[in-house]
Amino acid sequence: MNGNGKPAFFIKTFGCQMNRCDADLLARFFSAGGLAPADSPENSDLVHVHTCCVRQKAEDKFFSLLGGIRRLKTKKPSLIVGVGGCIPEKRDLAGDFPFLDYVIGAGEISRYADTLNEALHRLAPHGFNVEPRTPSPVSRFIAVLRGCSNPCSYCVVPSVRGPEKSRTPEEVEAEAREMARAGCREITILGQNVLAYGEDLAPRRTLLDVIAALHDLPGIERLRFITSHPRWVTESFLRELKNFPKVCEHFHVPCQSGDDEILRLMNRGYSSRDYERVVSAIREHFPPSSITADVIVGFPGETDRRFRNTLALIQSVSPDSVYSFKYSPRPGTPAAALADSVPAGVKNERLRLLNELQNAISRRINDSLVGASLDVLVEETVDPAARRYRGRTRTNKIADFRAAAPLEPGEIATVRVLRATPHALIGETP
Ligand code: 5AD
Ligand code: SF4
Repeated sequence: MNGNGKPAFFIKTFGCQMNRCDADLLARFFSAGGLAPADSPENSDLVHVHTCCVRQKAEDKFFSLLGGIRRLKTKKPSLIVGVGGCIPEKRDLAGDFPFLDYVIGAGEISRYADTLNEALHRLAPHGFNVEPRTPSPVSRFIAVLRGCSNPCSYCVVPSVRGPEKSRTPEEVEAEAREMARAGCREITILGQNVLAYGEDLAPRRTLLDVIAALHDLPGIERLRFITSHPRWVTESFLRELKNFPKVCEHFHVPCQSGDDEILRLMNRGYSSRDYERVVSAIREHFPPSSITADVIVGFPGETDRRFRNTLALIQSVSPDSVYSFKYSPRPGTPAAALADSVPAGVKNERLRLLNELQNAISRRINDSLVGASLDVLVEETVDPAARRYRGRTRTNKIADFRAAAPLEPGEIATVRVLRATPHALIGETP
């Protein structure tokens, strides 16, 4: 119970934006059911873990957390423990861990309501009053496309989440309208391969249809979309995208590697040169845009020379930031049949070298913004007395700033950048 005598819930989320989006939905569901958020599993009546299996590390962390929660439940048998997300799609968790109260896979979104209602009913058999709506966060996600039909050889997503399945633009618009009404100002349109949106719909729709449907909703100031597979970034898409000024100048375009042989083994469908062209086209159409990427180091067959090609691509493209991962063989994927030939120590060293290079690039890019005035959507009040706020620029950079006059989350402030770090801008409003 929390201080108000309400049952409390705690959600731990692993993995990608899609999982965060789903966990956000669960949190809203629990709140609507009368539960209050707790700051730790120890202070909760319900603990929900949203799992990821894209890399072994996320799985290991989940199983160790589950061990701790099991001990907690031994001490407090009334604790409700549930698991969602990707691991249930490939392993029988309910069978292996009988202490779990419910298990729902990533593909069973439609079963969420029933399962969670059952859990809620056990916590409060006589029902509780549904809370008045909690203020909506200013920036929200909408998953428009679930699953992935790409053949990337290392990736477990297509087998765990299944082939691409798009929602209709009308359904997405209805959800966005509701979010905007509740105070949301920025929507990030989500899909593992978001540019393939609508390929499975008849009549055929595209991401531009979704963007058009959301663009002029009252209250919506900014739109974003992730993740863009480089093969789907075309000149005509970029040209048409320019008709929508609320779309922010940030593109998350994973390259995964800068070596053509590794890219072939990964089955990515482009070369390092193609990737460079894609980034140039984005920058040409949307100056000054920010580029972020994912990179996997230590894929089978990645020699030192091939890894240096990745460093060279990162150097030449100079993205604003990179999310880098050590290759992790996933059972059932085509790459799992290849020997995991790069020793762990070498993967660690490559990760270090890549991060070192990227930090220097990010620092240089962010330093070049010192003195600039940028629009920042306020997401959070850090310290009301000192008028310190946090938000993000259109290019998706975190901005911490001091304001001359009080602000509210949801407002857009023009912030002058005073200092920069590789990961944030620090500034003030005049
Ligand atoms: N090993 C390491 N990283 C992976 N990713 C996906 N599968 C694996 C894997 N088996 C990374 C990719 C992807 C990001 C979400 O996770 O870089 O873009
Ligand atoms: Fe996985 Fe490739 Fe699909 Fe991304 S595009 S989810 S890496 S299969």
